[in-house]
Amino acid sequence: MCGIVAYIGHREACPIILKGLKRLEYRGYDSAGIALLNGDLKVYKKKGKVSDLENFIGDQATHAHVGMGHTRWATHGEPNDSNAHPHYSTSKRIAIIHNGIIENYAALKTVLQGRGYEFLSDTDSEVFINLIEDIHKNNNCSLEEAVRLALHEVVGAYAIVVLSEDDPGQLIAARKGSPLVIGVGENEFFLASDATPIIEYTNEVIYVNDYEIAVIKDGKLDIQTKEAVRTTPYIQKLELKLDAIEKGGYEHFMLKEIFEQPRSIMDSMRGRLIADQNHLMMGGIREYANKFVAADRILIVACGTSWHAGLVAEYLFEEFARIPVEVEYASEFRYRNPVIRESDIVIAISQSGETADTLAAIELAKSKGATIFGVCNVVGSSIARASDAGAYTHAGPEIGVASTKAFTAQVTVLTLMALMVAEKRGTMENSRLRQLMVEMENIPAKVEQALKLDAKIQHIADVFKDVPNFLYLGRGYNFPVALEGALKLKEISYIHAEGYPAAEMKHGPIALIDENMPVVVIATKDSSYEKIVSNIQEVKARKGRIIAIVTEGDDVIPDMAEFVIEVPAADEALVPLISVIPLQLLSYHIAVMRGCNVDQPRNLAKSVTVE
Ligand code: F6R
Repeated sequence: MCGIVAYIGHREACPIILKGLKRLEYRGYDSAGIALLNGDLKVYKKKGKVSDLENFIGDQATHAHVGMGHTRWATHGEPNDSNAHPHYSTSKRIAIIHNGIIENYAALKTVLQGRGYEFLSDTDSEVFINLIEDIHKNNNCSLEEAVRLALHEVVGAYAIVVLSEDDPGQLIAARKGSPLVIGVGENEFFLASDATPIIEYTNEVIYVNDYEIAVIKDGKLDIQTKEAVRTTPYIQKLELKLDAIEKGGYEHFMLKEIFEQPRSIMDSMRGRLIADQNHLMMGGIREYANKFVAADRILIVACGTSWHAGLVAEYLFEEFARIPVEVEYASEFRYRNPVIRESDIVIAISQSGETADTLAAIELAKSKGATIFGVCNVVGSSIARASDAGAYTHAGPEIGVASTKAFTAQVTVLTLMALMVAEKRGTMENSRLRQLMVEMENIPAKVEQALKLDAKIQHIADVFKDVPNFLYLGRGYNFPVALEGALKLKEISYIHAEGYPAAEMKHGPIALIDENMPVVVIATKDSSYEKIVSNIQEVKARKGRIIAIVTEGDDVIPDMAEFVIEVPAADEALVPLISVIPLQLLSYHIAVMRGCNVDQPRNLAKSVTVE
């Protein structure tokens, strides 16, 4: 979490950095700061949003061609002005911005305090910059060498940028575990946590690798490893367009992203599925097709919404390809000494491609010889690069912190993967395979139709916006959708919500049901329809307030439910792509009506780069 951005070149640095920080605000938004180098090294920082920082800077002189900025998601120390970045060293001649966590900061701090260093914040980052200063002084070496040596001392994750008053034409950056991209312009360079602050100026970027140090000095870029071995930077051309990261007339990014789903699902299928030509091909898998054919187990690792997409994939791979699947929370998997075999296929799902636990789970599985497939949205992200192969979801940038279009894009890609593997393994009737291929192509139009329910859902949101609790129930393919609906509601509206398999309700949660409890039941026509109708009866018998998501034309459930939302019919394996849409809209409207900050909910950040 935290976003970093830096600039060195011929333009005014301050506006570029502030604009860049706004683009990165989804990564953290509890405080922000900026350092500008124009003779003096000046730091401006403030608790709150980037707009608070902007107001604070006001019309103070900010002329500089070199600078860096940071938007924070607090780890060490509460959000306040002094814990905000950048941090000066004790001499105030050098400063740092840092995304990540230094795990051994306490021990380093004690040593540095013993040597007279002063600390004005509670952060690990201030320890980092004083460590660099200490090495710089004691070894009488260049700042670049001091940074390099400091990297050998710190344990943890970092993407840093360091500026020094004594080297005004120089900017030093390094990464391990936290993302860092360099934009290469004409006699100018941009650094950022992702490419969104850069694309306005250049589409040529370099993704810095772990343990690399980049030094930009006198208009030249030099990248070396921590061991001082020079590397040749690989410049990539970005395809990202500016309008993809703007609100485009919507009130919130989340709403824009919900409404983008017909397009993003289509983009996830583009070139991979052409039903009438019998074409089903995921480029990233082709090379590993035999591994999938021979696989006797798939492990899926992910967090949050991506984990829910993984649960849908479990059902898909088991039903279509007959391969046993285990879906793991990456954070649990990596610490519980799991059994991982060389023959295992690990699918890592991540929108950002930067989630620290998912990345660590991949590293663990790799060390045991498993084959890793990444399903990521962000091109060039750490997880994409750490995977043996994979498939991008092509949902376009997701800026709203609550994941919406990334979820449906993940499910789309995983569905195509499962179908392709099933075809290769010969585990599916040809007719069903063809039917599902055709149905997949119809999904964007059905999602479009589901989005037309917006006004009705807004009305339901108004009825329930003040309740303290919600229950979400689903069975089969709709069970992960129930979990996802509950997660969406709690993260953006701060209403407590639980998702449950509908049948499991009898084993505890049913005790919660009374006349005040809204129960969202996803009860589309599928193989467990009769069963879920019985579950609805059980809720009704206890006077629960039923909001049912049903298939168009259902004439049974409307008599039992207080509200009914009808979605277009689809094969049950594909239904999550449609049934999740009203749940996204419901949580969005409830949150807006409660006055919550939908795009930047409290305590959250889009990219969780700490464990
Ligand atoms: C929920 C949400 C989070 C993420 C989770 C994993 O709306 O956005 O639960 O799904 O932090 O993030 P990625 O997919 O980037 O690994």
